Amino acid sequence: MSYDPNEVIKAYERNAQIEDESEKKPSLRVEIPRAFIKKHLQPSDVVLDAGGGTGVNAILMAKACQKVTLLDITPGILELAAQNVKAAGLSDRIELVEGDITDLNRFSDRSFSFVVCVGDAISYVLDGRFKAIGELVRVAQEGAILIIGCDSKLGFMRMKLAQGLMKETLNIYETSTCRCGMGPRTHLYTVDEMTDLLVAQGCEVLEIASTTFADTIDTSPYIEQRQWARLRALELEMCTRPELLGIGLHLLFVARKRRVAGA
Ligand SMILES: C[S@@+](CC[C@H](N)C(=O)[O-])C[C@H]1O[C@@H](n2cnc3c(N)ncnc32)[C@H](O)[C@@H]1O
Repeated sequence: MSYDPNEVIKAYERNAQIEDESEKKPSLRVEIPRAFIKKHLQPSDVVLDAGGGTGVNAILMAKACQKVTLLDITPGILELAAQNVKAAGLSDRIELVEGDITDLNRFSDRSFSFVVCVGDAISYVLDGRFKAIGELVRVAQEGAILIIGCDSKLGFMRMKLAQGLMKETLNIYETSTCRCGMGPRTHLYTVDEMTDLLVAQGCEVLEIASTTFADTIDTSPYIEQRQWARLRALELEMCTRPELLGIGLHLLFVARKRRVAGA
């Protein structure tokens, strides 16, 4: 299915405020990728946050590394990011750039030591995914960590089945695409597909996680602080278990760009 950037921009312009609120609200969906980012980010890192949204991840990272470049395709989202970055007093550490992950031409090869693309931009680019993964890896230094989040084919099939929607489930099974809640069409990945894409671009996959409890249970009974901490710890412990990968709606890959022998 062919990628139309205008479809994504329209959806996120319409939902910019909602996106900002969801990045700021504590939820396992945003906290789990942040836990993996925290685990791998080094103080010396120079980061690309691709499809970075309204900047909450960029702000967290900028407090713990050298510099963050937040790239996003949606002007309205970038305006909110600028406000958030200014309010955090981090305008000197976070650069905001309007752009598309399928074309990172403005950045030369190996510009970044840490590349983040979480929150599904890599799913919205549909058949642009090969180019986008290629670009994200190209701008990463050898040995750099890449953290990539995408929509899960098995998770979406499971959700549609649970809703009694067999026709939609079979459509996902056959096409690996769906329209997501926010509006844009999304390419749904299996663990194998994303692993193969990353390996083909010269990466090794270090960790794979799935939103296990985040997307499959009602988390509202656990909002009290200690209960939330326990649920979060459980999710973090379980989310990389092979038998659970794919049950939630999202997958998260931690990869490392291989060093070229003799380079
Ligand atoms: C769900 S938000 C995720 C924001 C943030 N990364 C997070 O995880 O909280 C997805 C963001 O990706 C951006 N986006 C979607 N497709 C993109 C593309 N092709 N290139 C750059 N940004 C894109 C959208 O504008 C939106 O801000």
